[in-house]
Amino acid sequence: MHFQTSLIKTVAVVLFGLCINAAAYTYERLDKNNSVLLVVDHQVGLFQLARDYTPTDFKNNLLAHAALAQVFNLPTILTTSAETGPNGPLPKEILAMHPNATFIKRNGEVNAWDNADFKAAVEATGKKQVIMAGITTDVCTTFLALSLVEAGYSVFVNSDASGTFDTKTATEANQRMRQAGVHVLSLFAVSCELMRDWRNTPGTVQMLPFFDQYLPSYGFLARAHDAAVLNGTLSGLDD
Ligand SMILES: *[C@@H]1O[C@H](CO)[C@@H](O)[C@H](O)[C@H]1NC(C)=O
Ligand SMILES: *[C@@H]1O[C@H](CO)[C@@H](O)[C@H](O)[C@H]1NC(C)=O
Ligand SMILES: *[C@@H]1O[C@H](CO)[C@@H](O)[C@H](O)[C@H]1NC(C)=O
Repeated sequence: MHFQTSLIKTVAVVLFGLCINAAAYTYERLDKNNSVLLVVDHQVGLFQLARDYTPTDFKNNLLAHAALAQVFNLPTILTTSAETGPNGPLPKEILAMHPNATFIKRNGEVNAWDNADFKAAVEATGKKQVIMAGITTDVCTTFLALSLVEAGYSVFVNSDASGTFDTKTATEANQRMRQAGVHVLSLFAVSCELMRDWRNTPGTVQMLPFFDQYLPSYGFLARAHDAAVLNGTLSGLDD
């Protein structure tokens, strides 16, 4: 009897706690007016360490990450780690996209936040939401993401543009970041959360070409729709 009573009490307390938690949740959306994009150590040497994507997919994802800034007009900061050594330079495509971006070349700091110039560059943007990706996920991305959270930023990691040795390492790193409140999300999620509404600018007109280039599943879907509308014929399956 006593056991039953305390069990009921426990269940009641747990349910009450769950309700409080549910009510307390606030969905923080990416806001294109309050975001800065960080390209962290997307270097051609480090690229070889990213084995949790095919090289073809991963290259595409790195370029897509950098291109987010062009589509949404986001302030952008590039950083590299010891780029004259085996880590190598950034891909020339990323440099070509961002000729005027602040570019901090670190010579020793593993965590970019330990570099005073990088920290000052992020602070100077005045933005509170950070969209970032890096190689490797467990080191360059995670260390910086945790430091940014500690410094009061909201951090959104584009997981499609963060790579590491294997999926086990990626899973552990993503778990570590999420425990600290980092949002770990896909390129498609970052894009759509920044856009919010297809009728916005950037909206359909700007985003369909972006998806056509970097997310062919969506781009080809739109092409198929265009082709059907412009000159399609019914297959007869509807009859
Ligand atoms: C961003 O700023 C523009 C111009 O002030 C405004 O129209 C838009 O609603 C803002 N977007 C968000 C997500 O707040
Ligand atoms: C970079 O800056 C130059 C000189 O101000 C300007 O002409 C050019 O349009 C800028 N490029 C980009 C991609 O912002
Ligand atoms: C539409 O398809 C027909 C049949 O294949 C073709 O003859 C015609 O040139 C196409 N028209 C356009 C605008 O693509």
